[in-house]
Amino acid sequence: MRHQLNKFPHQPLPLEVVCGDGLYLELENGKRVLDVTSGTTSNAVLGFSHPKVLNAMRAQMDKFCHVDINQWQNPMLEELAELLLSQAPRGLDKVYFCGNSGSEAIEAAMRLAHQTQYDRGEQKRQWFIAREQSYHGATLHAASVTDFPLFEYLQGVTPDKIAHIPQHNSADHCAGGEDITAYTQQSIRYLEDKILELGSENVCAFVGETMLGSLVGDVPPATGYWQGIREVCDRYGVFLILDEVYCGLGRSGQVYCCELDGVTPDFVCVGKNLGAGYAPLSAVITDVAKETVIANGSGRVMHGHTYQGYALGAAAALAVQQEVHTTEMLDHIAALGKHIAASLQSELGDHPFFRNVRGRGLLQSISYDCPKQAEFSVSLQRQMFENHDILINAKWHRTSLTPAYIFDQDIMDRVLDIYIETFKSTAQGWPS
Ligand SMILES: Cc1ncc(COP(=O)(O)O)c(C=O)c1O
Repeated sequence: MRHQLNKFPHQPLPLEVVCGDGLYLELENGKRVLDVTSGTTSNAVLGFSHPKVLNAMRAQMDKFCHVDINQWQNPMLEELAELLLSQAPRGLDKVYFCGNSGSEAIEAAMRLAHQTQYDRGEQKRQWFIAREQSYHGATLHAASVTDFPLFEYLQGVTPDKIAHIPQHNSADHCAGGEDITAYTQQSIRYLEDKILELGSENVCAFVGETMLGSLVGDVPPATGYWQGIREVCDRYGVFLILDEVYCGLGRSGQVYCCELDGVTPDFVCVGKNLGAGYAPLSAVITDVAKETVIANGSGRVMHGHTYQGYALGAAAALAVQQEVHTTEMLDHIAALGKHIAASLQSELGDHPFFRNVRGRGLLQSISYDCPKQAEFSVSLQRQMFENHDILINAKWHRTSLTPAYIFDQDIMDRVLDIYIETFKSTAQGWPS
């Protein structure tokens, strides 16, 4: 009997990875797999063996792996905070190192939002509003703002002052030529209506992924959506929490995805690609006004974790973000993303199965109009893996290309050629 409790007890055990080498994973069976998923969940943005990151971690390990950040000062965290703020939306000037996972960042942002409302005398503001078909993480608060069929069994144990409004997905809703401006206004009105229904004096914050992510598959917001949401939040004293665990820190071609939408939230959550799979770390980016309210109210942040500001994670994250926070890298991400989308559109745009390619930067998803979409996805993924040693993401109605930022165009072109060929040949024998 194996001693691990398997997440998928009915599935065969996955293969063992012998080592990670740049963009490749070497497996026990001798295969060398090109990973176009960045570590399955899009975290390994600099591949698996970036020398600068590994050296920074070794240097940190020679000093210490972790010290408690409330007891001792770690100057590396201040350096990292300064870097994270250097390209943050105007007005954001504080970083709270909350923990290690993206879920903890969502949890911490919700806690900070609540405490700020509480400390400024708005104790009745206990409701959070989120959107349908969103994913925000696995802890109970993060799960409560998530809307995911698999989590339905949690009803009754998750916090209950949570409301959902319809998702904002112009790729699906306006596919038939519907008016996108009217749809965007309607999407914004959903929030206002929900705030009024709950009583504006009772609402703490609105939580949303800047770009619909891993559940819906990389759908950017329509122009003006987040600005409209910001106005509604301001009108009713509701905080805006943006989840950039998946789409932030360079993925979109900007350090913060919401820069593309011209909006400054109250809290931005980052994780996942902060330490980029080298070591876990997550953070909430906010502003000094929140700190001042808390300082003058409770006098301390009422939240904490043993490993918040994990020192080895900070060393890894600083080295990763120094690579990411450069014009050269961000321009490369934006250009390669556009190249992926344009190549797929030009080669598959007229194919009867092709629905759309959408995303920002190096998060690109391809969805289809064909029967048995989930099986089609799995078939593409399996063939890419078994016949070409290439790993791509496949979920329900789509496949996704979420490569590491260090992919170059030649390698990407090889992946695209194989993907396009596999798409066409699979479609040939598919029931229509
Ligand atoms: C948008 C979004 N938010 C939050 C999370 C949770 O992050 P973690 O799995 O690190 O807890 C994820 C994870 O995939 C995510 O995609």
